[in-house]
Amino acid sequence: MKEKILVTGGTGYIGSHTVVELQTAGYEVIVIDNLSNSTVDSLNGVASITGITPAFEKIDCCDKLALDGVFKKHQDIKAVIHFAASKAVGESVEKPLLYYRNNLVSLLNVLECMTENKVPNFVFSSSATVYGQPEILPVTEDAPVQPATSPYGNTKQIAEEVIRDCTVADANLKSVILRYFNPVGAHPSAAIGELPNGIPNNLIPFVTQTAIGLRECLSVFGDDYNTPDGSAIRDYIYVVDLAKAHVIAVERLLACANKTNPEIFNLGTGKGLSVLEILEVFEKATGVKVNRKIVARRTGDIEKVWADPSLANTELGWTAKTPTSEMLSSAWEWEKKLRDSR
Ligand code: UD1
Repeated sequence: MKEKILVTGGTGYIGSHTVVELQTAGYEVIVIDNLSNSTVDSLNGVASITGITPAFEKIDCCDKLALDGVFKKHQDIKAVIHFAASKAVGESVEKPLLYYRNNLVSLLNVLECMTENKVPNFVFSSSATVYGQPEILPVTEDAPVQPATSPYGNTKQIAEEVIRDCTVADANLKSVILRYFNPVGAHPSAAIGELPNGIPNNLIPFVTQTAIGLRECLSVFGDDYNTPDGSAIRDYIYVVDLAKAHVIAVERLLACANKTNPEIFNLGTGKGLSVLEILEVFEKATGVKVNRKIVARRTGDIEKVWADPSLANTELGWTAKTPTSEMLSSAWEWEKKLRDSR
């Protein structure tokens, strides 16, 4: 067994996929989660894939004492991957204080516990949302960070600054910040996947729920963008590819003696697809039709963004390999399994 890795938010969507990849690579994983937006069942899914049930502590990262207890109980943690955060953009506009507290207090507590318990390696889940609408596409990591359009987006920007300052100030802290584009799909086993709360905000869960008949019709938000078919463009990345990048980030941190600045990497495919193209690929891959109607643009949405992933390709030796059709089929298999089990 390799080193111990602490994963906050490890029962969630990206967290659970990352736990699988860490265990597969031989790491011992400790999961903490407050289960506010996930269930502990996802760890049964993890165990059904890897044969290993990770240690689990139901802890809120905003509770510093409880968090510190986890570091004391599981001695010799070598790295922390910090996923635990609230992520609904619309909700963050309605409840900014909740978002600033959840996302920032938890980050400060994790970093303080790491310092106090001499844990040197930190991986943070950030978002392409920090770029806003970039002027140049594909967007590289040195593109300017744009003013956030939501408290959620702002918490990611502030978090990146906090991590930068702490990494610069503390010679013992090394960090990697991963900026995700649009994570989609589910594990090929369909044992774990995304569990949206209520009506999904994100495109793919809405597509699969419409395809299965749970929603009547998908609203395509805008067909008057300056894009070839008029619908907005994003860089959709397979969640398993994304999860693998976290393992590489941990390995990179474990292997390097010291670093004074956080390393920042885009995690995307480098290819942009429009909403209408996604629907076409989904229908072709699954053979299922998706009812849709064109409606007005969604407030706050940007027109187009896709990653330049070359830094992650060259520095991490990581590439997003999975074709879009496979990502979308996996999301469909997961949706069918979810409905069968309910
Ligand atoms: C959103 C967040 C982003 C966050 C990411 C997490 C906003 C403005 N941005 O990104 O900060 O990091 O989720 O996954 O909310 N679409 C439809 N119909 C739908 C749903 C979506 O047409 O029912 C379109 C959207 O207009 C967009 C694309 O599909 O063009 C992707 O939308 P979504 O999955 O919500 O992701 P983002 O908006 O890119």
